[in-house]
Amino acid sequence: MNQDSIAYLNGTFQPLSEAKISVLDRGFIFGDGVYEFVPVYHRRPFRLAQHLQRLDNCLKAIKLSNPKSAAEWEALFQEIIRRAPYEQQAVYLQITRGVAPRDHPFPQGATPTVFMMVNPLKLASSEQIENGVACVSADDFRWHRCDIKSISLLGNILLRQVSVEAGAMETVLFRNGFLSEASSSNVFAVKNGVILAPLRDHLILPGITYDAVLEFAPKIGIPVETRPVSRAEVLTADELWLTSSGKEVLAITTLDGKPIGDGKPGAAFKKMWAYYQTQK
Ligand code: PDD
Repeated sequence: MNQDSIAYLNGTFQPLSEAKISVLDRGFIFGDGVYEFVPVYHRRPFRLAQHLQRLDNCLKAIKLSNPKSAAEWEALFQEIIRRAPYEQQAVYLQITRGVAPRDHPFPQGATPTVFMMVNPLKLASSEQIENGVACVSADDFRWHRCDIKSISLLGNILLRQVSVEAGAMETVLFRNGFLSEASSSNVFAVKNGVILAPLRDHLILPGITYDAVLEFAPKIGIPVETRPVSRAEVLTADELWLTSSGKEVLAITTLDGKPIGDGKPGAAFKKMWAYYQTQK
């Protein structure tokens, strides 16, 4: 990248390469923080209110008070988007419990570290949209609070690497024989024209794209069942989808080398993908 990305750190806008934090930041030492990733289309953040609500929920879940009001966050997003040189942007936001001597208990009086950066938004290629993507599966060995968008992503990273090493796009995760999500995406199955959505419980991230898909489905006439989805149902599904803020909706056409449905993106996927494009 020849143009240095823009960053915001604790009140100051600066080039990303100049942004520095203490090695005692609890984000660095403990992974003690939460984050958001917001896609920006034509300089307009997509579903910002929902991202800010999830951020607030996650801060509450880790007992860290939100350092800014929704209006302040909105203003900050507006400003960093204005300063960045790209039309399509990926805004990353991270809040940690701040800088303090290394000790497990929450520090008294530490100021949360607020960090944001903007990068160009990298979406799926037209080849991936048209032909779908290959995924592999693995056992979901992460903790039981996957609903918290924690910066402690070691489990997710180790699981993502399984697919990297298999030359696949994502790792689809099963816990006790049921679908949870993928290493950095939510997953839906489609069977007989019905979307099967895993429960929005503590074992998956409540994706903003997951919510968007469930909101769009009735508008385009696709019924949804939100319930536990077994491995057998996933393996015999007509369609499988990945969703995330960066991937939008993508069809999984092979899982562990075996075709899903007829091995091509299905009719429901095409409908959902097309509708998604009109909403962003
Ligand atoms: N990842 N599940 C996990 C584990 C994720 O990391 C993500 C997103 C999602 C989808 O959430 P959303 O629709 O809100 O993007 C589901 C982001 C993009 C990331 O880590 O960069």
